[in-house]
Amino acid sequence: MTDPSRMVSGKKQPEDRVDYALRPHSLSEMTGQDRVVENLSILIKASKARKEALDHVLLYGPPGLGKTTFAHVIANEMEVNIRITAGPSIERAGDLAAILTHLREGDILFIDEIHRLGRAVEEVLYPAMEDFALDIVIGKGPAAKNVRLHLPRFTVIGATTRLALLTAPLRARFGAVYRLDFYDLPAMYSIVQRAANLLKVPIEEAGISEIARRARGTPRVALRLLKRVRDFAEVRADGRITVGVAGEALDLMDIDPLGLDDMDRRVLRTIIEKFEGGPVGLETIAASISEESDTIMDVVEPYLLQLGFLDRTPRGRTATRLAYEHLGLSDGRPPRQSPLF
Ligand SMILES: Nc1ncnc2c1ncn2[C@@H]1O[C@H](COP(=O)(O)OP(=O)(O)OP(=O)(O)O)[C@@H](O)[C@H]1O
Ligand SMILES: [Mg+2]
Repeated sequence: MTDPSRMVSGKKQPEDRVDYALRPHSLSEMTGQDRVVENLSILIKASKARKEALDHVLLYGPPGLGKTTFAHVIANEMEVNIRITAGPSIERAGDLAAILTHLREGDILFIDEIHRLGRAVEEVLYPAMEDFALDIVIGKGPAAKNVRLHLPRFTVIGATTRLALLTAPLRARFGAVYRLDFYDLPAMYSIVQRAANLLKVPIEEAGISEIARRARGTPRVALRLLKRVRDFAEVRADGRITVGVAGEALDLMDIDPLGLDDMDRRVLRTIIEKFEGGPVGLETIAASISEESDTIMDVVEPYLLQLGFLDRTPRGRTATRLAYEHLGLSDGRPPRQSPLF
């Protein structure tokens, strides 16, 4: 079963209380994602200059990379209200109609997990996004009448971890689509440094690097690790996070030098040891380690793909040579740096 305490999951956990002090509020405070930040700042400046509502924006990428944060930042920068909802919580078309009729000119409607909107709800969203219109039926039977209500010009910001599950017509209604990538090391370093400053945690540069390196390019994981390492430093050391303290704390949490935890290693080991390196289907992997395939797909795979430990082929997943090397296993081929060459 999914381990609720998994430290390196990008997925939100109860302990990740929305920490307003840590959450960036403006584009200039956002670290990393330079391309997205630059594009957004142009989009925002242009629509502010024209005094128009922002074009609809779609943000996608693995959990914990800042989709929700960006939505709030955009609302701050546009100086408009943001109304927050999520795909699964809009059950009926009427629920969406109620939300839409309460929006004001320029408002942002943030729809998290937008790939989980129901069909009937989507049908209402199409004309709302395109023509700022809401079509409703009044009355029943032969006397029923179609009425078109006009909505104020508003902006939808959609967020999803699964772009592929979005229907084509919905996707087409977004003027701006941005993919969030894992953060590089310098960006991760700044994120840990900034958070440590705000939390007033004494930390050495090498301690920052150690946490940054093991947080799998994900700000949410970095913040979580920083808090756990702080606990460790306070209980087992003098409160100061040195490289040694950080390393010991992270080792204790079973997080290896690349940020892989037990679940990542189990996925790789399963492919390698039970299925001879693959290819093997996702469902089969999930079943053999008793995990949900959704968790593997959203949280485990993206990072393993990024590290080049996994390949996705039409016939399933295969473990790469790098994965064998990282786990200290042999793939039957001679070592790469053979003295013969
Ligand atoms: N660029 C950034 N700089 C600093 N902190 C960031 C950045 N992006 C995200 N964070 C922090 O990381 C945490 C996770 O971000 P956020 O909740 O926006 O992720 P998400 O992509 O919406 O995840 P999910 O898919 O689970 O909804 C937030 O607490 C935020 O403070
Ligand atoms: Mg979010």
